[in-house]
Amino acid sequence: MGLTVVTGANRGIGLELVRQLKDRGAAVVAVCRNRSGTLDGLGIRVESGFDLTVPGSWPAIGRLFEGENIDLLIQNAGIASIDSKDSLEVDAG
Ligand SMILES: NC(=O)c1ccc[n+]([C@@H]2O[C@H](COP(=O)([O-])OP(=O)(O)OC[C@H]3O[C@@H](n4cnc5c(N)ncnc54)[C@H](OP(=O)(O)O)[C@@H]3O)[C@@H](O)[C@H]2O)c1
Repeated sequence: MGLTVVTGANRGIGLELVRQLKDRGAAVVAVCRNRSGTLDGLGIRVESGFDLTVPGSWPAIGRLFEGENIDLLIQNAGIASIDSKDSLEVDAG
């Protein structure tokens, strides 16, 4: 079985994703900028210190997994910039 890698896994949706993936038996790896006590408490592999906006972060993350198989990458880290639901365009034209 290959790895399931989740970014932004220290809190929020990412943290819940890694918790549920672990419970389902996945070989899950949490990638994050800052660790959290809750994440560390899950007992899964954590790779921290990666600000994904910094050039070179993704190649550095790639090197962490050399020789390993990644089945699934969930690129969850980020900041939602939607001001309100009124700014969403739902008309498909
Ligand atoms: N919650 C919603 O209703 C909603 C709606 C639409 C889309 N989303 C998207 O779903 C994802 C998770 O949402 P959430 O509610 O769980 O957000 P959240 O609680 O604000 O968590 C954001 C996560 O992204 C990480 N992150 C942000 N910028 C980063 C960077 N430059 N480098 C590395 N990590 C970075 C944060 O790390 P730090 O702890 O180090 O800051 C944190 O782990 C985000 O991409 C968000 O845009 C969420």
